[in-house]
Amino acid sequence: MTTLRLGDTAPDFEQDSSIGKIRFYDYLGDSWGVLFSHPADFTPVCTTELGYTAIVSGEFAKRNVKVIAVSVDDAESHKKWIEDINDTQNTKVDFPILADQDRKVSTLYDMIHPNASATATVRSVFIIDPAKKIRLTLTYPASTGRNFNEILRVIDSLQLTDSHSVATPVNWEDGDDVIIVPSLKDEAVLKEKFPKGYTAVRPYLRITPQPNK
Ligand code: BEZ
Repeated sequence: MTTLRLGDTAPDFEQDSSIGKIRFYDYLGDSWGVLFSHPADFTPVCTTELGYTAIVSGEFAKRNVKVIAVSVDDAESHKKWIEDINDTQNTKVDFPILADQDRKVSTLYDMIHPNASATATVRSVFIIDPAKKIRLTLTYPASTGRNFNEILRVIDSLQLTDSHSVATPVNWEDGDDVIIVPSLKDEAVLKEKFPKGYTAVRPYLRITPQPNK
């Protein structure tokens, strides 16, 4: 196990899941990916997280993102838990949960933090781009449910950076003004890329309307 950092290649793996054996790279194909871990099956916070992820599954699909969860119980347990999640959260889980009983994926992605718990995974999230590079890592404690709207917001920001050479300011939400990346200096390129113009508050702080709106 090595600590995975932004820009590293996401490790590939094969593991059993609630929908059968999965080879991670084949599952992702050319999509973006969100890989996220849970302490264990039939736990309350995870039930709400997985339920909400299923509720907004259309939002992930719209952004060309495939979601995959990890929990350290077996596939049969996952299938029973999914029935409970569907029931209690009024949704239909339509993404796989990896059955990581042997801790293969948890270890590969450093999802077990022994000083928090020797056996259970913490709440890790990895956003992975189509080139299989890790673009976000996030770790929450077991007792705090994550904000999946925030994960969608980060995906929007990353995709805008890739497509339009912009960064997103504090508390940015889709549709707000954005920031031209400091490395872009050529006036002709700026004109072409930002036909709506931009405001240079400082030479390093150039604000422009969100280009894809
Ligand atoms: C859970 O639902 O996973 C959980 C709830 C409270 C403390 C730790 C974990």
